[in-house]
Amino acid sequence: MRPHRVIVDCDPGVDDAVMLSLAFAARDALDIAGITTVAGNVGAALTTRNACLIRDIASRPEIPVFAGCVRPLRRASVEAGHFHGESGLGSLPIAAPRSAAESSHAVDFIVSTLLDAEPASVTLVATGPLTNLAVALGREPEIRRGLREIALMGGARNEGGNITASAEYNIYADPDAAAAVFGSGCTVVAFGLDATHQVRATPERVAAIRAIGSPPALAVAELLAFSNALPANGPSAQGSPLHDPCPIAWLLRPELFRLQPCHVDVETGSPLTLGHTAVEFRAVAGRPQNVLWATGADGAGVFRLLGETLAADAARAASAAHRAL
Ligand code: BDR
Ligand code: CA
Repeated sequence: MRPHRVIVDCDPGVDDAVMLSLAFAARDALDIAGITTVAGNVGAALTTRNACLIRDIASRPEIPVFAGCVRPLRRASVEAGHFHGESGLGSLPIAAPRSAAESSHAVDFIVSTLLDAEPASVTLVATGPLTNLAVALGREPEIRRGLREIALMGGARNEGGNITASAEYNIYADPDAAAAVFGSGCTVVAFGLDATHQVRATPERVAAIRAIGSPPALAVAELLAFSNALPANGPSAQGSPLHDPCPIAWLLRPELFRLQPCHVDVETGSPLTLGHTAVEFRAVAGRPQNVLWATGADGAGVFRLLGETLAADAARAASAAHRAL
């Protein structure tokens, strides 16, 4: 089968880094046109550096990285270093990346790639604040033609918020951008906290990934262990939630998630509920049901997929090294 073409927009970020590791390892299934970065969990210079570093660990130098927007559309930045460490990559040792990001801007890359694409052929995966996507859609609405869908991590309905009582971080960090993306008419597949809280990095699952022993698997295990040690993530035996890999896991194995059509509005006015996602499952006149909302996930299945994909990539690297002897 032809690999699925994707652009991955992210703010690494511990769980973004796990997401990138999964995407990079899925060599046969995903054709990654490029990685675009945005300010979010940490500042834009660090999210870009971190994406380049994870690319090195995954040995995917051929995939370009493009730096994007350095602040939200209309508000001050809200970082989440308390969940991701000062570097954004938890306790992962930081080295200078072997190669830097491209010189062109992430938004220009998104626009030109989608304008050149066959109709409905590219999935835009987004696991940070939606600033780059909103700017791209605002600048060139025609890009919607090349889009198959936007698969994003963001929002919360049943679970309440994780940055305020009613908002999830990615939506809260740039609610105006999120409102523009959900309101764009594009098909959006949204993996919010209702689903991602069901995907838990239990110590047994982390140990199974560590046992694979390849550089990407060891990095993933280190990132997950860092998250598990944070008191804010709850008891470590329960495992911290694995948010950002969910859209990639869905592309690779859709049967791991339950999706329900709905309409989503994003709160941009109220200081109390800023960034809240109002998810309407009922069919209401004038509110298009352009969103598929993830209501549940098979957490064990997502971790099986992560382990199998990293292990297959490790085996491929070992046999390539053997052939080179
Ligand atoms: C989301 O917020 C970020 O801190 C994580 O990387 C993830 O994208 C979870 O709410
Ligand atoms: Ca993220």
